[in-house]
Amino acid sequence: MCGIIGRVGDGNAIETLLTGLENLEYRGYDSAGVAVQNGAGIDVQKRSGKVEALIDSIEPDAIEGRVGIGHTRWSTHGPPTDENAHPHTDGTEDVAVVHNGIIENYAGLRSQLQAAGYEFTSDTDTEVVPHLIQSYLDGGADNETAFREAIADLEGSYAITAMFSGEHVLYAARQGSPLVVGVEDGEYFLASDVPAFLEYTDSVVYLRDGDVAVVDPDGVEFTDLAGNRVDREPETVEWDPEEAGKGEYDHFMLKEIHEQPTSLAQAIEGRIDPENGRIALEDFGPGTFAGVSNVQLVACGTSYHAALYGALTLNQAGVRATALLANEYGVAAPPIDDGTLVIAVTQSGETADTLRALRRAKTNGAETVTVTNVVGSTAAREADETLFIRAGPEIGVAATKTFSSQAVMLTLLAQRIAADRRGEPPADLDSLLPDLAAMPDEIEAVLESSDAAAIASRYRSSRSYFFIGRGLAYPVALEGALKFKEITYEHAEGFAAGELKHGPLALVTPETPVFAVFTGQEDEKTLHNAEEAQTRGAPLVAVCPDGHPACEIADAHLEIPETDPTLAGLLANVQLQLVSYHAAELLDRPIDKPRNLAKSVTVE
Ligand code: F6R
Repeated sequence: MCGIIGRVGDGNAIETLLTGLENLEYRGYDSAGVAVQNGAGIDVQKRSGKVEALIDSIEPDAIEGRVGIGHTRWSTHGPPTDENAHPHTDGTEDVAVVHNGIIENYAGLRSQLQAAGYEFTSDTDTEVVPHLIQSYLDGGADNETAFREAIADLEGSYAITAMFSGEHVLYAARQGSPLVVGVEDGEYFLASDVPAFLEYTDSVVYLRDGDVAVVDPDGVEFTDLAGNRVDREPETVEWDPEEAGKGEYDHFMLKEIHEQPTSLAQAIEGRIDPENGRIALEDFGPGTFAGVSNVQLVACGTSYHAALYGALTLNQAGVRATALLANEYGVAAPPIDDGTLVIAVTQSGETADTLRALRRAKTNGAETVTVTNVVGSTAAREADETLFIRAGPEIGVAATKTFSSQAVMLTLLAQRIAADRRGEPPADLDSLLPDLAAMPDEIEAVLESSDAAAIASRYRSSRSYFFIGRGLAYPVALEGALKFKEITYEHAEGFAAGELKHGPLALVTPETPVFAVFTGQEDEKTLHNAEEAQTRGAPLVAVCPDGHPACEIADAHLEIPETDPTLAGLLANVQLQLVSYHAAELLDRPIDKPRNLAKSVTVE
């Protein structure tokens, strides 16, 4: 989820590129760079840190050229260093490349290219692309053929833009990661997002998966990878540049809810070995977790709900695990022994409570892993190992896409720990993995058909809302309530479904809607608990697949596709995120910045 900008036309490209990078900075901001055709070759300037640092370091007159590319990076492979910043070159600066997405087969390609004598200078997956292009050039191909051949070798998701020394042309290809061409008289732009160039043109052409665009000052040609022409018509976008970072959405939160198919696909990508269906996590070789006897997960807020999801998944996979509030860990940490693994779950990697728990776990001798979204964050640096959730920057204060990516990452990790302990994958993995691969499409289906807006409107006069669930639906109920109270400022509570009758039922009235989440784990019992609330007059909203018995008795229904019970809660969570969003919208709340809250809580 980084940002790409490219520009071809008359005059100097540098100003347009730097403005484009500033416009894109909300997408990712741990490093930035530009490459410009300067007549003699390609001039690359890049560094870690914010775009501002890059701008300050560039002498405006010292870099000049009519064609160029730029990039803001949100690290996925390798820390934010000058070397890992884009653009990447082949070393001789004949070709420069910027890339968004993940190249799944980069390790194999890198070894092949290294064996053939190509020298790598970064830790990124992207660097294979310029070397691959160079290898085809060395074999006698022309620029365009070399670009197409290299793209054909890639597996994974990408938006790629490349330029060659001595040529005023940009080459671009898209597969699973957005790329758009901006069209203006005699000037063309390429970007990952329209806001990058919106102040120059509102006429845009969106590339589709499999498209290649060749852009020069005289025009742009769209083809498929094999070179067959495809028709792509320009359209006009009607966005205010100020608000354009949100794209077509009114709030970042809604945009981020809608980004979940992409962020989940990114989280999963390359982490399931296609050869044997086993879970391949970063550098964790087979058997890494063989000695783990128990797991403690520490986290706060939404991340705590993801941690609870992870703990339950671990328990179900036969591994002893507990989720603990990081802010309670200081006074009540369970004992740590030789087989204890402590997992810190933190989107930002900077939450003071979670860092303190992580440090305490290390001091007491535990092995530690951080599950985070931010490369280079304190938690990522301090833990023994880190797993990145790759959700991309989350601007809305209320966590949405990072929750689903954390939960999926922890589900994969749970299966992997269980497999390492037993020496073989758990038996139910064969059914889980296809459903996991289908999650992005299923979330898309939920987003397209959700009745959440109508349900939020139907119960808008209520002042108290309850969310219940059993098993993996319990953390989802807690998260549903947290999201609701956080952005609507209305009272909302989440309970384990079976707990309702042990006290909270006293609060239930005809004015308190109850959202019951059904994920296929003892649903008949949850249904019974929900009916107890309904008997007291509470309107019942069932979150479940169509045709589920709960649909027959519920007053309203939010549908989720049928899937493995380990994953169903994540689909239900999307419905609940949308209910909270629409309820807050009806109340005209400042959805992206709820009062009294901050995105990253760096005090204890
Ligand atoms: C709620 C929310 C917070 C965070 C919590 C931990 O929507 O975002 O509850 O989950 O402050 O933050 P991280 O994950 O950065 O440690």
